[in-house]
Amino acid sequence: MKVEQLFTSCLAEMAYYIESNGEAAIIDPLRETEPYIEMAKADGAKIKYVFLTHFHADFVSGQVDLAKKTGATIVFGPNANPNYDIHKGIDGEEFKIGKIALKLLHTPGHTMESSSYVLIDEKGNKPYAFTGDCLFIGDVGRPDLAVKSDMTEADLAGHLFDSLRNKIMTLPDDIIVYPNHGAGSACGKNMSSETFDTLGNQKKTNYALRADMTKEEFIKEVTTGLKPPPQYFPNNVRMNKGINKSIDEILHRGTTPIDAATFKEMSEREDILVIDTRSKEEFAEEGTVPGAWYIGVDGNFAPWVGSLITNINQKIIFIAEGGREHEVVTRFSRVGYDNTLGFLRGGIHAWLAAGFEVDKIGSISATQFANKLKEGNIVALDVRKESEYLSEHVVGVENFPLDFIHSNFAEIKPNKEYVLHCASGYRSLIAASIFMANGVKKVTDVRGGFKDIKDTGVKLTDYVCPTTLL
Ligand SMILES: [Fe+2]
Repeated sequence: MKVEQLFTSCLAEMAYYIESNGEAAIIDPLRETEPYIEMAKADGAKIKYVFLTHFHADFVSGQVDLAKKTGATIVFGPNANPNYDIHKGIDGEEFKIGKIALKLLHTPGHTMESSSYVLIDEKGNKPYAFTGDCLFIGDVGRPDLAVKSDMTEADLAGHLFDSLRNKIMTLPDDIIVYPNHGAGSACGKNMSSETFDTLGNQKKTNYALRADMTKEEFIKEVTTGLKPPPQYFPNNVRMNKGINKSIDEILHRGTTPIDAATFKEMSEREDILVIDTRSKEEFAEEGTVPGAWYIGVDGNFAPWVGSLITNINQKIIFIAEGGREHEVVTRFSRVGYDNTLGFLRGGIHAWLAAGFEVDKIGSISATQFANKLKEGNIVALDVRKESEYLSEHVVGVENFPLDFIHSNFAEIKPNKEYVLHCASGYRSLIAASIFMANGVKKVTDVRGGFKDIKDTGVKLTDYVCPTTLL
């Protein structure tokens, strides 16, 4: 028997590969199919099942393509009604994989079809529980994503309480909890950076599993402090219930090389967006195609694509480090951005060689930033989340979270000079590129972000409790 956790840091997502005696199963696969097919091939196994814990909101899962290529059966729990063929499992149903089995536990709450799967090994022991977004390490799934006219978030939280108490917490204390997400995911609010734990330990440390907790207390705790979900979540839920463009077709078109002259023409079209995916350093030092947004592939690429590109059908062309084009197209499609048309052949060097201009964002060190602040005459903005800003920030710097850049953009005056920082320089570069693409002439990024700024000895605020601000 083989059980592997497949962690994707960009999405803080965990898929699982299970194999026994020539049969394999995948739980919650990402959009691409090849890695799973290759794993099964290496084991000489046939993928028999693709199990889904629920309709994901934060990524488009690849069950339809994977089933088509392998002949596997797609399994969901009760209440799942997608527009493609599935086996709709019932609570307690067992699925044989070689010499082992997975037992479906219907655990509604995060969503009404949410289900967990318990592995029963050859000896009849239960070593693992795949809990999806029902139970995370240190947290539970948010209950506000599947709200309907007849189902409030409190109703969903109530179901989650019952699922945890009746189905999950009754499992053996030494069972390993394998969740679908870890820290950084917007599917919960307080997840640990650990990717698995024993149930017994979670009972001691996870606030939502406290033994003396009443249902009312639970509902209050899990529904308090939830931030609005990223704007792409409803689109991904919709896509996960339907049949989408095949990943092979998306990859074929998205990896089309485009010469500099054609790329220029395309970049000037209103209906095409250019995304520069290179490293922070290359983007800042070499400049970019006018109008391009920076979303570096070495960061939380997919969630930022989903949060910032409001039209999921947006036509996209991109600039990438040579050799990473296939990866970039894959990572766009993981959150449903399937309309990539191609990349700049030869990169920014080909663009420059063709005699075309580049846009450059100003870049200063933390020390230069500290000096500029003393001089005045600049508008300094901290683009981190409100919660990060409230915990500590530089005196005289306003909060302008990247998450809400579009809705707050009316506050920005194109003729002013802006200096932006975040925690480490990734988000501020994204924000600076969007400022520039929207006509702000003078925009400067602080290299190294808040981490370096703190070292300059500049005056910082103490922690401000959000409630004292009201
Ligand atoms: Fe989820």
